Amino acid sequence: MSAFILERLHAREILDSRGRPTVWAECRLSSGATGAASTPSGASTGRAEAMELRDGDLNRYGGLGCRKSVQNIRGQLHEAMRGHSFSSQAEFDAKMIDLDGTPTLSRLGANATVAASVAFARACAAQRGVPLYRHFAEIAGLPLRSLPQLTVNLFSGGKHAGEQAPLQDILLVPTGAKNVDEGLEAVVSVYRAATKLIWKKYQQRLLRADEGGLSPLFPDAESMLSDAVEAIIATRRTPGADMSMALDAASSHFYRDGNYQLGPERLSPSAMIDRVEAWTRRYPLVSVEDGLSEDDWAHWPMLRQKLQDHCLTLGDDFLCTQPERIRRAIAAKAADALLLKVNQVGTLTAANEAASLARSAGWKVTVSARSGETEDDWLADLAVGWSSDFIKIGSITQSERLAKYNRLLAIEAETSLPIRRS
Ligand code: PGA
Ligand code: ZN
Repeated sequence: MSAFILERLHAREILDSRGRPTVWAECRLSSGATGAASTPSGASTGRAEAMELRDGDLNRYGGLGCRKSVQNIRGQLHEAMRGHSFSSQAEFDAKMIDLDGTPTLSRLGANATVAASVAFARACAAQRGVPLYRHFAEIAGLPLRSLPQLTVNLFSGGKHAGEQAPLQDILLVPTGAKNVDEGLEAVVSVYRAATKLIWKKYQQRLLRADEGGLSPLFPDAESMLSDAVEAIIATRRTPGADMSMALDAASSHFYRDGNYQLGPERLSPSAMIDRVEAWTRRYPLVSVEDGLSEDDWAHWPMLRQKLQDHCLTLGDDFLCTQPERIRRAIAAKAADALLLKVNQVGTLTAANEAASLARSAGWKVTVSARSGETEDDWLADLAVGWSSDFIKIGSITQSERLAKYNRLLAIEAETSLPIRRS
């Protein structure tokens, strides 16, 4: 790749889909090429995530302001990078990590480094005159092969829905669709059927959670799964063939003193594993994310062993996209799929290392949005460029999610790449 000479890094505070501040950054190269990007933000976060720097000034946005991160980009990062010639994304990210000097990026803030990292990638793609997904593929040294399979939020509970149901996400996976276009149509039709079903069953108004999932007062965890199957059937689709499902239990958030508080039930780790396994036998689940807590290292290998012949054991909070945790999980055979969130680790380069570690162990990869998102659509390009098996964006009713689905439709139309089949 040619040289990318940095002329200016700029930043601003903007608002995310929850009305909380986040960071927008812009990068200008001396060639005149520019790129901008914004950072998403989680609510159901893992403890090993890179640090999101917040101002802490309680008089502004309840302490959630991002002026410090913005200032870090405009000041320190801009000053240190200006005039510098970079030959790669890895070089740019390494310089930021070096400047920060902490293991969790807590000095500059991972919300600053993510926006800067992706803005730089966009500016480089613009200088090269290639689409962002193609540039991402080259960063990872991968050919463009496929589009990711969709996993789309239908029902929400946990931290995204006022904790009124214990399981965080029930997702639809349009396994029978031949492309993204058809997959989205099928998902939207099941979502519509689910809204009717919920009204009939629970007489509740249409309440939507942070990612746009429906969240009535489900009587128990299992109803979230069985209602999803009912909604699929209501559209005359065959569960498991036309439409499959995925589950994000996000169980770190109901793990108490070594047990799992699933609604009114208190389950030991082995009872929780049995419960998750029973769900995977009863419902057409292609993956279970965070079926156990991020701290329950001892039991993850057992969960994977029980699921491995029919369903993926997917780690989100458990792995936090951290190469070190992924290495440990590979060695322990504790999972077989990675949920990849760039802001959990702070730079594209570290996220790329996480993805390639996962791939080299034969794992599947899901590129994922956060519950707090912006209208930026770089995630779609990343999932295509890095040949991820799945993409997790949220539901189909809010523009910060649709920006990414619509970008996938554009990439599909432009490339005619096939959808990934696992
Ligand atoms: P988040 O959670 O609120 O941390 O973005 C999303 C998820 O658990 O997948
Ligand atoms: Zn999760």
